[in-house]
Amino acid sequence: MMEAKKPRVGFMGFGEAGYHFAKGLTRAGLTGLAAYSRSGARAAAGDPVCARAMDAGVELVKSPRELCRRADIIIAVTPGKNALAALRSARRYLRPDHVYVDASAAAVGAMEKAAALIGGKAAFADAAILGPVPLEGVRVLMLASGPGAAPFRDALAPYGANVQVIEGAPGAASAMKLIRSVFMKGLTGLLLESMEAAERCGIRGALEADISRWVDERPFSQVINRFVGSTAVHAERRMHEMADVLALLRALKSSSRMTRATRAWFREISRMGLRERFGGAVPETIAPVIEALVGKTVTR
Ligand SMILES: NC(=O)c1ccc[n+]([C@@H]2O[C@H](COP(=O)([O-])OP(=O)(O)OC[C@H]3O[C@@H](n4cnc5c(N)ncnc54)[C@H](OP(=O)(O)O)[C@@H]3O)[C@@H](O)[C@H]2O)c1
Repeated sequence: MMEAKKPRVGFMGFGEAGYHFAKGLTRAGLTGLAAYSRSGARAAAGDPVCARAMDAGVELVKSPRELCRRADIIIAVTPGKNALAALRSARRYLRPDHVYVDASAAAVGAMEKAAALIGGKAAFADAAILGPVPLEGVRVLMLASGPGAAPFRDALAPYGANVQVIEGAPGAASAMKLIRSVFMKGLTGLLLESMEAAERCGIRGALEADISRWVDERPFSQVINRFVGSTAVHAERRMHEMADVLALLRALKSSSRMTRATRAWFREISRMGLRERFGGAVPETIAPVIEALVGKTVTR
């Protein structure tokens, strides 16, 4: 059987993410990696960046032009604020058989702009890295969207890369990463607020154990359905409960910003008349609740 042709991979930017990702690809058997960064281009033998390049099996090249000549798949891992400048420096050297993957953490608008800048010159993918590359290396989960997403996934999967293609144009992967933070970071806020109050009450250990057990006992897909669906019909009752919670937090002189926001959510939902619309029954899926939210006028 003929061996599949090895992809030629180049990194635009060779900092922490580029180094660890490249090292993983090399360890998995990929050869011929190249990287360009401004400091790498100026580096002399003995500079730390040269040692890192050697360790990762990467050749540092002197210009974006050389990078584009040496690689078919270009993975940009620059600070988000430099993403468009990096692309502009490489743009004129891109060919239709290039895949340009922007994996820097940039705003959704920047990814849309990058796609427009590239136009039909190459296949573009917006990629969002969802974990720490020094810890997870090439296996770090990456979401990718846009025309270059599937070619990127297919070329690097044999070398251990974990690229999940999500539907949508460039910008969708970055949007997913940011919206995911609404939940992930919001959950952190809830934990901080509930643990602070529990500590003030002398029950932090018990609360931590109770919440952990509760979370471990059920698949989270059930939690999503139950919480969102039942809130649509029980929002008013829950709003009153949150008023009692708020009174307790105030008495404890404990932080309450997340609780105040939760109460405001329940108030807003109770005023939307969803209980009446669903005949008092919890809907089977969250779709009609979310559609109602999307259809309402935003009040904040
Ligand atoms: N590290 C992680 O675990 C991780 C996780 C998730 C997401 N990310 C994202 O991945 C991106 C890179 O992160 P990092 O940790 O590797 O950052 P870093 O260590 O600061 O490295 C950034 C690299 O980009 C280069 N660079 C900056 N401007 C450039 C330009 N215009 N053209 C070419 N190269 C340029 C820098 O070199 P010069 O200044 O010498 O050009 C440097 O090599 C960031 O957007 C970050 O948010 C990183």
